[in-house]
Amino acid sequence: MQGQTDPRGAPLSTADPENVAALERAHAMALGFEGDPIAEIDAALARSPDFVMGWLFKAGMLTQAMETRVYRPMKAALERAEALVARANERERGHMAAVRAWVDGDFSRACAEWDRVLVDHPRDLLALQLAHLSDVLLGDTVNQRDRIARVLPEWHEGAPGYGWVLGFYAFGLEENRDFGRAEEMGRRAVALNPKDAYAIHAVAHVHEMTGRQEGGIWWMTSRRDDWEHGNFANHLWWHLSLFHLDVGEIDRVFDIYDRYLRGGPGAENKYQELDSAALLWRLALYGEDVGPRWSELSEKWAPSATDSLYAFNDVHAMMTFVADGRDDLAEEVLTAAERHVQGGADDNVAMTREVGLPFCRAQQAFARGDYDEAVERLLPIRYETHKLGGSHAQRDVIALTLIEAALRAGRFAQARALLNERLALKPTSPQNWRMLARARDGLGDGAGARKARARATSLFSDGVGAA
Ligand SMILES: [Fe+2]
Repeated sequence: MQGQTDPRGAPLSTADPENVAALERAHAMALGFEGDPIAEIDAALARSPDFVMGWLFKAGMLTQAMETRVYRPMKAALERAEALVARANERERGHMAAVRAWVDGDFSRACAEWDRVLVDHPRDLLALQLAHLSDVLLGDTVNQRDRIARVLPEWHEGAPGYGWVLGFYAFGLEENRDFGRAEEMGRRAVALNPKDAYAIHAVAHVHEMTGRQEGGIWWMTSRRDDWEHGNFANHLWWHLSLFHLDVGEIDRVFDIYDRYLRGGPGAENKYQELDSAALLWRLALYGEDVGPRWSELSEKWAPSATDSLYAFNDVHAMMTFVADGRDDLAEEVLTAAERHVQGGADDNVAMTREVGLPFCRAQQAFARGDYDEAVERLLPIRYETHKLGGSHAQRDVIALTLIEAALRAGRFAQARALLNERLALKPTSPQNWRMLARARDGLGDGAGARKARARATSLFSDGVGAA
């Protein structure tokens, strides 16, 4: 029987148009952060177990889950596809090689394999999405932009899914500090599809990086109906909280945390745990007492303390454990990460060795009050942190930890140098100015952080975006 093509012309070996439609539905869910794409494709696979691209979609999506608990189903789905290799077309074999590389821990080669597919099939939206998201996980900043640039001229506005591509490009441009074009692309994507959470997110990043806090709060709250019901909502709440944090609206930050990030016990959501840890750590850096929230979060992180699948996860687990006083679990994270570095050669080994472990050790030093040691551990990795993956906004927690450690160590000249650099990039950030004021006034402790904020908060008390 004759194979099919998807709505963008990418070839599929399946002869069944129902499979094509099911894949399209599942993929739309994944792109829009809606529903359960895995359940959707599972239903198609139950009906049609020889649907090669169905298995590859499932395995490919699971590569992005950042959790060891999905490893087994990811590998199983890949093996089902590999068993069908004789039926697979050349494009599908390319996807197979990419996911195989990922399962083997060679994330960079996975991206190279997806890129090979994209050379011949530039409108292969699945290859583009998976490679793009992998670029973010790997901290491959240049390819976050250029992988999209390589295919964008091969698209047109009439191609189904064009808006998603603009959203990817918006984020890639933003991470390369091309903020004007990033905002233009992001806003075009949102105009095409107001519910494009990834494009909304890219424009939020532009606001964050350019210090437009009030604009960012408006951008997020005025279109809240479009993003708050999807699977990306946790992270978008986190972004909104950063704007409030910068302008010193701490009550709003706690309100967002408690309503949207804190979650109930038992719910497993690694992305939510990452954002929760990152937000509580920032609050703690600014001298806030976050109460029982650390211990609640610690319970959630504990089962995956020794996963060592991604250094990015490890550093967030570490934040939680050291802040909660769980030295036992913190040691487990370190031991597992050290063992991982000694025993492996995958991409995560380099991420762990070069950024993950130094940051974990700096956090331990910070938590026990050895601020000098925290500074010494973080200064040498300042320009390597992109290797941890994630975004500039997420990795900024490392820079903030370094500056706060310098302040608390009484190394005010060092803190001033770092803050001068920061203010040159983001001069409208009240938080940057508050920290600089502390460095100038010699206010090194947590009480100094609160005092500096109290002095500045009145400037931003008009309540924009209060829910
Ligand atoms: Fe983000």
